[in-house]
Amino acid sequence: MRTLPLVALAAVSLLSPRLASAPAEMETPALREVFARDFLVGAAVPAAVPAGRDPRVAALVARQFSALTPENELKWDHVQPRPGEFDFRAADALVAFGEKHGMAVIGHTLVWHSQTPAWVFAGADGKPASAEELRGRMRAHIDAVAGRYRGRILGWDVVNEAVADGGPDELRDSPWRRILGDDFIELAFRLAREADPKAELYYNDYNLEQPAKRKRALALLRRLKERGAPIDGVGLQGHYNLKWPPAAEVDATIREFSALGLKVMITELDVDVLPSRGPAGVADVARRESGAPELDPYREGLPDEVQQRLAARYAELFGVFLRHRESLGRVTFWGPHDGASWLNQWPVPGRRNHPLLFDRDLNPKPAFHAVVAAGAKAAAP
Ligand code: XIL
Repeated sequence: MRTLPLVALAAVSLLSPRLASAPAEMETPALREVFARDFLVGAAVPAAVPAGRDPRVAALVARQFSALTPENELKWDHVQPRPGEFDFRAADALVAFGEKHGMAVIGHTLVWHSQTPAWVFAGADGKPASAEELRGRMRAHIDAVAGRYRGRILGWDVVNEAVADGGPDELRDSPWRRILGDDFIELAFRLAREADPKAELYYNDYNLEQPAKRKRALALLRRLKERGAPIDGVGLQGHYNLKWPPAAEVDATIREFSALGLKVMITELDVDVLPSRGPAGVADVARRESGAPELDPYREGLPDEVQQRLAARYAELFGVFLRHRESLGRVTFWGPHDGASWLNQWPVPGRRNHPLLFDRDLNPKPAFHAVVAAGAKAAAP
């Protein structure tokens, strides 16, 4: 029988009058404790946090979360902006911050088409790099970056977003694929295993809840496994909105990837509450939409009715996650609080989105309490 942690009791007391005799001034429960027996609960964290520019956010992150993903600081353009010139200062500080607070540190990401400098794919005389050149750069990068943190990173998003959103091909048209062919993915996994043999290695992508894209990703990962590529898990980014994807598709997605023998992680969870003109689920960072006042309706705060819908949506999602806790290793939110969310800038710049569990003043939202209640319910004997 699972014993109920004190924090979970606090959450239950909110719901159950029978237990309401708990001390009135209960501290806010901590997600890392509520879900301690289920999965890690993480946040993407920006460089400002360990740099001490935001001590209140640092305290929130340390108290609430059991895993940390540097939001941008391990991407290629940050760690190797110019050939052979590495800058690990921001990444070092984030990794040290995670370790200091007993958090699992996740590496994001080694091979991606975005936030990768143009020189990586360039050859001499304005021509693209040769396959040999690009393979060499991939190896040098993975050796340097994964090698530097060897033994300190729980898992790496080795390849990010290689599957196509549509069209006839399984894989996205990217310079990696154009120059190296489809095998660039397997190569990246083999190099990552060499550089940090104990780290878990993941494939990470968005929109895998959409059946057609999921099918392509399942085929890719099945093939990688059959060929003996060292892949341990799959990250579902989890850029969701109030309606999409239906809970049944999240459920099927976790089940189907886990049936391949892969550990599943929700790696970049947020629930967009703002209207959009673009396709739901396609979290392509290159997507841009022009702004309009009707696309930014909650500048003065989230109306109660929408808060409640957001809370119900998070309860539904965590219901699914908890049902799969045996196969789910981690649920990471893409940002510690609403003010720090990338959804304030994407796909429309300069809006006020409200996609996370903590608001701009770092107060827990109804969605936070709904998530805690879901955890407490699952823990009840
Ligand atoms: C985003 C960051 O949050 C932003 O700060 C940055 O400007 C662009 O990238 N999918 C991913 C993440 O895998 O790396 C992206 O992060 C969000 C979408």
